[in-house]
Amino acid sequence: MPLQSDSPRATIQTKIQEQFCIETRPDPCGLVIFGASGDLAERKLFPSLFHLRRSGLLPKQFYAIGMGRTPLSDDSFRAKVLASLKKSMKDLEDDSFLREFLSSFYYFTGQYDDSFAYQALASRLKSLDETHQTRGNRVFYLSIPPSLYRTVFQRLGEAHLAQEGVDGRGWSRLIVEKPFGRDLASARELNKQIRSHFKERQIYRIDHYLGKETVQNVMVLRFANIMFEPIWNRNFVDHVEITAAEDIGIGHRAGYFEEAGTLRDMFQNHLLQLLCITAMEPPGAFVANRVRDEKSKVLRAIRPIRYEDVPKSVIRGQYGPGLVNGKNARGYRDEPGVSPDSLTETFAAMRLFVDNWRWRDVPFYLRSGKRMAKRVSEIAVHFKAVPHLIFEPIRSTDILANTLVLRIQPEEGISLSFETKHPGPKLCMSCVTMDFNYESSFGEPPEAYERLFLDCMAGDQMLFIREDSVNLSWALMEPILARWKEDPAGPALYEAGSWGPEHADGLLAEFGHCWRNV
Ligand code: BG6
Repeated sequence: MPLQSDSPRATIQTKIQEQFCIETRPDPCGLVIFGASGDLAERKLFPSLFHLRRSGLLPKQFYAIGMGRTPLSDDSFRAKVLASLKKSMKDLEDDSFLREFLSSFYYFTGQYDDSFAYQALASRLKSLDETHQTRGNRVFYLSIPPSLYRTVFQRLGEAHLAQEGVDGRGWSRLIVEKPFGRDLASARELNKQIRSHFKERQIYRIDHYLGKETVQNVMVLRFANIMFEPIWNRNFVDHVEITAAEDIGIGHRAGYFEEAGTLRDMFQNHLLQLLCITAMEPPGAFVANRVRDEKSKVLRAIRPIRYEDVPKSVIRGQYGPGLVNGKNARGYRDEPGVSPDSLTETFAAMRLFVDNWRWRDVPFYLRSGKRMAKRVSEIAVHFKAVPHLIFEPIRSTDILANTLVLRIQPEEGISLSFETKHPGPKLCMSCVTMDFNYESSFGEPPEAYERLFLDCMAGDQMLFIREDSVNLSWALMEPILARWKEDPAGPALYEAGSWGPEHADGLLAEFGHCWRNV
């Protein structure tokens, strides 16, 4: 039976001037947010819903209900939503539009493990479905600590809230935030628990990087242009660098981060997903499961780093004190809530190989860290040097090879570097870049969560992580986690505001490469 996300959907195709658009419209629905008084809801979820409403993309028939343990009235919840909007939007006007938006928010007080609460929630949803004519379609958004997931899946299942198409209900979908497990065994267990109540086609596992416009554009760049795909392979690509560097520290997230570390926080999900999108084969069709099949094939083709090879293929670091953007920053161990002898890594870098015909022997270097020199996420595809340079005595290795940089954030864009001749009688060459900048062409890209909300409401799972992908990614992390657990040396210290521990350079130097620290 075809999965829902691959079944033909009512898509609208338009051509406006030079734009070709395919749009999948979200269905009317109610959104239940578990953890509605949390940080994510305040910083991302409420503002994203508001932007969607403002741009006319949110279905007209829509409501959101926050569920939480703290007793709150609908009005106090609306005041919280308003406060979050005011925080993120300077230009917010207190007008009828805003008031109408807020009036579609409700609150339900309940303990996450209380079965009766879920029965009461079910009847509240039924009446809200009628009020807002949402056809019984519901999204359940889990923005709660993972330790509560199991209880919530179970209670939702017991209260028949996972059921679809019966008793006046439409579809029922579950959005699960990361972290999705903390290793292969716990991820498998978590999947087993969800799957006993929800089917895979109902489960939307979030990796918010996939909601970023610049990440989605990697597929358009590769598969809607003729010039990149023929050279997107080992014959022309020398190596690929994927960086997700942050200048911020761990802020108030010590409780989570001490347990997670950068490998779990950034590599198992975001960085491996970026690698998949860069390395995958063109899918047979632009539908969720064909795209997700190709990504899983990449994960299967990644040469696992063996336990004994971890020290030479993976580097971990932890930030010490330093200067970040001209300001003093404390070291990780001095952050509130962090153990003074913590061995948690705040930086990791690794070298991976994708063992298939397209990529065999092309190193993929991945790195991510907190408190680094600057905030930059990018995919840099470094091409090979020309085979023979006619401009003697300059050698092909003297000049810079072409590099295509896909800037995920900030300064979202794409640049291609190439050699040019300087004007004048001498033959002087230097490297220049052709640059595309999103903001100057299209304005500021929308927040990733906006797109993810819409896709879930439209039943499109393309930008969400499928179960096999979660497991394959954890399997690749397992030997590294195991080795680090037993290695008493712990992470190397790096100065806050630097590009990470010096010996991370060695990963690349061994193959004659170096990081693009720009
Ligand atoms: C989250 C991590 O998934 O991604 C955070 O838990 C990290 O530690 C964040 O800061 C980075 O996201 P973005 O969108 O700012 O690159």
